[in-house]
Amino acid sequence: MDLNAHVNADEQKLSAERLTGKVALITGGARGIGAATAKLFARNGAHVVIADVLDELGATLADSITGRYVHCDVSKESDVRAAVELALTWKGQLDIMFNNAGVSGPNGSIANIKMDQMNTLLSINLNGIIHGIKHAAQAMIQRGKGGSIICTSSSAAIMAGLAAHAYTLSKEAILGIAKSAACELGAHGIRVNCVSPHGVPTEMLLSGYRKFLGKKDLGSEEVRKIVGEEGSLLLGRGATVDDVAHAVLFLASDESGFITAHNLVVDGGYTSARTRSQMSFLYQG
Ligand SMILES: NC(=O)c1ccc[n+]([C@@H]2O[C@H](COP(=O)([O-])OP(=O)(O)OC[C@H]3O[C@@H](n4cnc5c(N)ncnc54)[C@H](O)[C@@H]3O)[C@@H](O)[C@H]2O)c1
Repeated sequence: MDLNAHVNADEQKLSAERLTGKVALITGGARGIGAATAKLFARNGAHVVIADVLDELGATLADSITGRYVHCDVSKESDVRAAVELALTWKGQLDIMFNNAGVSGPNGSIANIKMDQMNTLLSINLNGIIHGIKHAAQAMIQRGKGGSIICTSSSAAIMAGLAAHAYTLSKEAILGIAKSAACELGAHGIRVNCVSPHGVPTEMLLSGYRKFLGKKDLGSEEVRKIVGEEGSLLLGRGATVDDVAHAVLFLASDESGFITAHNLVVDGGYTSARTRSQMSFLYQG
């Protein structure tokens, strides 16, 4: 008997396309984590609609993966509805909704917080997610074949002090609405999960670090190195966009079929322990 037979079978399954024929909509898919996920989804056999406000980037990426691009400001419900409609008119179905668009928003003291700025951030980071869940749910319920909705939260939802107040609020609220939606939509076979990235060197994080360190030309490798050294239990191992894309692929695929209302934290363990080394004497001997 070949004891490795099941391992080989598993490996074959993993190397095969995992989203064959599925239709996915990705908000904030023009660059960063969303773009990496769009490419990975397409490599796994999905038909991908990219919805973003960065039209040139989004359209070029969509062409390169034989997908579709739609201009969509997620803070506007009508834009999100139109993006879902594009998926439906293109392929007749929507199987995967990745609500990923987000902005980092204003810094500043809670004592001086500007409510108009806070509301602008919430209109994108939170309302955008609600618009996405709502319209994906309508399409999925109507088709009656279930679906997978994934929302991008953040390590900032788990641990305070990693981001500004408004952003932290928005990302924790996403966990709430995702769990609440999962509670209702499970009856329709629709799974709703979150992914929580941490320290991924995209434009969002780079612009923050450039300002903070006063280095305009700071590159992604430098930021990844900083995260690997300061923000990860995996010594020297910082995050990549592909780390998050693979987590999203799992949540999108049928392999995660019994997982809903879950938050998949992709943080190199950072939010699970105070530091990597402070108590290291415990492991000696
Ligand atoms: N980079 C990180 O370390 C990190 C950590 C935790 C969570 N996140 C989250 O990951 C998601 C993706 O961010 P990223 O790191 O790839 O940054 P990014 O800035 O590269 O990507 C964000 C994308 O969202 C799009 N977007 C912004 N506002 C939009 C709007 N109103 N409508 C539609 N699209 C809009 C942008 O154009 C961009 O394509 C965000 O929700 C972010 O909060 C990122």
